[in-house]
Amino acid sequence: MRALATIDRSALAHNLERVHELAPGREVYAAIKADGYGHGAATVARALHDADGFAVSSLDEAMQLRWSGITQPIMTLSQPLDAAACALAAEHDIRPVIFDRTHLAVLADYVGPELSVWIKLDSGMHRLGFAADEAAEIESQLQTLRHVSRVGWLTHLGCADDPASAMTKRQLAAFEAGTTGVDGQRSIANSAGVLAWPAAHADVVRPGIMLYGSSPMTDATAADYDLRPAMHLTAPIISRRRVAAGEPIGYGATWCAPEDMEVGVVGIGYGDGYPRHAPSGTPVLVRGERAALVGRVSMDMITVDLRAVPEAVVGERVTLWGPGLAADEVAEAAGTIAYELFCRLTGRVSVEIV
Ligand SMILES: Cc1ncc(COP(=O)(O)O)c(C=O)c1O
Repeated sequence: MRALATIDRSALAHNLERVHELAPGREVYAAIKADGYGHGAATVARALHDADGFAVSSLDEAMQLRWSGITQPIMTLSQPLDAAACALAAEHDIRPVIFDRTHLAVLADYVGPELSVWIKLDSGMHRLGFAADEAAEIESQLQTLRHVSRVGWLTHLGCADDPASAMTKRQLAAFEAGTTGVDGQRSIANSAGVLAWPAAHADVVRPGIMLYGSSPMTDATAADYDLRPAMHLTAPIISRRRVAAGEPIGYGATWCAPEDMEVGVVGIGYGDGYPRHAPSGTPVLVRGERAALVGRVSMDMITVDLRAVPEAVVGERVTLWGPGLAADEVAEAAGTIAYELFCRLTGRVSVEIV
């Protein structure tokens, strides 16, 4: 087997428990869009059976969960609403998030089983949502619709990863002001909101990345919050060779051996989703020891400096991220975020659930 992602259900459950500890008494809608941030949405949903609900991107993602037997309420965060979507969503207790005036027009024409909707307010991120001060007007429009009920109101935080963010304070104030006097649950917090902004906990929290064991915060690691990695990505050493001092390794000859040294060739590359931009020096774990990627990432393989672990042999597996090597650290070396590392893994990576 080449690249293998081992998904640890107990780590997922532990991380959900951490959400409950950090936001006691709040409902938890686990964000499992993009196939559970690349971990497998149904696998994650089953491991998180204590979650009160789930948040996905689209009706398609929600229906896949229903077909997998997931029964909790599901909100769809970012799909344009049309008549067909309304009927299917209502039939399967899927709750669309409405965020645009075109949605109000669709809902006005909707006739069918009662459809529950969340309403998204733009509190300052300026991506999706009605202006926060339009909440009362939206509420009165929805009150006239016989086939539509409101679950509640949500907003999304743009800078909650910065624990001192003035924008987050402004967003919280705008949402509070906009939703004063309207009925329904309130939901603000993503993972960063759960971890660093108790004032954002409201009625329902919507954590994603922390459930997978990564930290969204700029100032604290996942370990600082006692989060456990839910994915262990490994790949085998497929060859090892001695490279003479001064000789280059890989495409573009971007790295040359500083001395005669052992190099391991590992069977994972950008064709599996390992980031092509990971530079020489990006950490990997060999036998639990830190080793460094050297040379360019190829489609099917990477090369690793084995000087720290000369005893490593062909066939043994190295860790690209997981226990002992946070995906956040690899992401930082590669100039990206753990979200992207997880989501970009390709179908070529085998999956094992433990
Ligand atoms: C609307 C909304 N809520 C919650 C989340 C979960 O965010 P995070 O993974 O940072 O916890 C996301 C993710 O992008 C989102 O778009």
